[in-house]
Order: sequence, then structure tokens, then C-alpha cells
Amino acid sequence: MPSLDGKVAIITGGSRGQGAAEARLFLAEGASVVLTDLNPDGAALAEELGERAAFLTHDVADRAGWAKVVETAESRFGRIDILINNAGITGYEPIDQITPERMQRYMDIHVHGALYGIQAVLPAMRRQGGAVVNVASTAALRGYPTYVGYGVSKWAMRGLTRYAAHDLVADGIRINTILPGGIDTPMLNQAEGAALIDAARNAVPMKRFGIAEEIARVALFLVSDASSYMTGAELVVDGGLNA
Ligand SMILES: NC(=O)c1ccc[n+]([C@@H]2O[C@H](COP(=O)([O-])OP(=O)(O)OC[C@H]3O[C@@H](n4cnc5c(N)ncnc54)[C@H](O)[C@@H]3O)[C@@H](O)[C@H]2O)c1
Repeated sequence: MPSLDGKVAIITGGSRGQGAAEARLFLAEGASVVLTDLNPDGAALAEELGERAAFLTHDVADRAGWAKVVETAESRFGRIDILINNAGITGYEPIDQITPERMQRYMDIHVHGALYGIQAVLPAMRRQGGAVVNVASTAALRGYPTYVGYGVSKWAMRGLTRYAAHDLVADGIRINTILPGGIDTPMLNQAEGAALIDAARNAVPMKRFGIAEEIARVALFLVSDASSYMTGAELVVDGGLNA
């Protein structure tokens, strides 16, 4: 796999889970990373990761706040090559109970937040090209009960990738989607009840959930030159669940 030597990555939702795993892997591959998250735990993580890591408290849905994220990346590390739109929330609300506010929040984070991120990094990426990854979900491959807010917003994120791919290609910016299945992170463990978690695990042909590092390795592939002919594409990483 080509390394990320000298590249600069912004990873949203970087305080824990998949975002934190991506930060560690990208750093090991030579990149510098700017982590952002609503959860301030990322500050301690960035400290632990050292000189080539920075953290900023930021809500991806705060469009104006993206200017500060870009400014931090450019002033600390001089450029922006990679954006991972990873921040996400989950919850179980049936269609007759989800409130307009809750639906809006899913859309604000998963769709508008990803869009604002792309718009914010565009001027910097136009200088030398870049790679964006949208982290959607296998919930955007079909429908599930009580998951309309999460699922519909992740379907829209898939769409965002495909439309953005066309508009960004002339600037040498590639954008692709990862669709993770069940990944063993704090988000997965929010699923109510051990019985539900056991049933979900048993439904996976590999009989286990993925781990954050298994998504990070796919993200590394998608942001490295190893995937230089891929844009607007989708990689399902689910232990065979949708095979
Ligand atoms: N864990 C799974 O099973 C699974 C499956 C499919 C897709 N995903 C997706 O993968 C991505 C990463 O999730 P994870 O598994 O690491 O979960 P996680 O809950 O461990 O991490 C998500 C991070 O996003 C942050 N975040 C939430 N809202 C934010 C906002 N508005 N602005 C900035 N940061 C915010 C959280 O504070 C958290 O640190 C999410 O987009 C999620 O939807 C997860």
C-alpha cells in the first residue's frame, strides 16, 4: 500500500471508535491528522499521538465552525489532502415516533455535515488534489425496522458521494463511500439489550462483528494512491452480511 507520507488528514468523529483507529493508522503511515469531535476526549488522544496530531471540538453540522478546522489544519500542517466524514450518531425510533427535530439531527450530521466538510476543504484540496471518504452504513443497502432516521440519512450520504464525485473529479479529488456492517465500537454497544447484539452477531456469516481497525484499513486504501482509479464507489465491509 502506498504510504501517506507528508499528507494531512481531517477525521471527524475522531475521539473514539473508527475515527480514532483511522487516526492511529494514518499517523503510522506518515500522515498528520486533525481530529474533530463533539466529545472532547479527542484532546487527550491527540496529545498521546504527539506532534503530528491536533484536536478541535467541533460539531460537523456547524457550517461556520468548519473554517476553524481548515485553518487549524493549514496553520499546523500546511495543507489538506484527506477528509474522512466519519462523525455519526445512532438511535432506534420507529417511523410513527421519530420527531422532526431528531430526523433533522440525523440529516444535519450525516448529510449536511459531510457536505459542509467537503465544501470547507475544497480550496485547499484544489491546490494538489485530495481524497474524501464518507462513512455510511450497510443500513444504506436496504431497510430495517425502527431505523428510519439513521438509515435514510445514510442512504443520502451514499448519494452525496456519487454526486460529489462528478463535481470534484476535474479538481483531482476522489470521493468514495465505506458501508460498514456491525463494528465493535461504543456506537454498536448502544444497541439496547445483549440479546439484540447476540442476534446481530449471529446473523453475520463470519459470526463476529468487525473491529475499528478493519474499517481503518479500508479507509487507508481509499485515501491512498492504491485506489487511484476509484471515485464515486462504495465498499461494503460487513463480514459477509450482505453477500
Ligand atoms: N459501529 C457500527 O456498527 C457502525 C456501523 C455502520 C456505520 N457506522 C458509522 O461509522 C461511523 C463511526 O462510528 P463508530 O462506530 O466509530 O461510533 P462511535 O460512536 O464510537 O464514534 C462516533 C464519533 O462521532 C462523534 N460525533 C457524533 N456526532 C458528532 C457531531 N455532530 N460532530 C462531531 N462529532 C460527532 C461522537 O462523539 C463519536 O466520538 C459513524 O458515522 C457510524 O454511523 C458504524
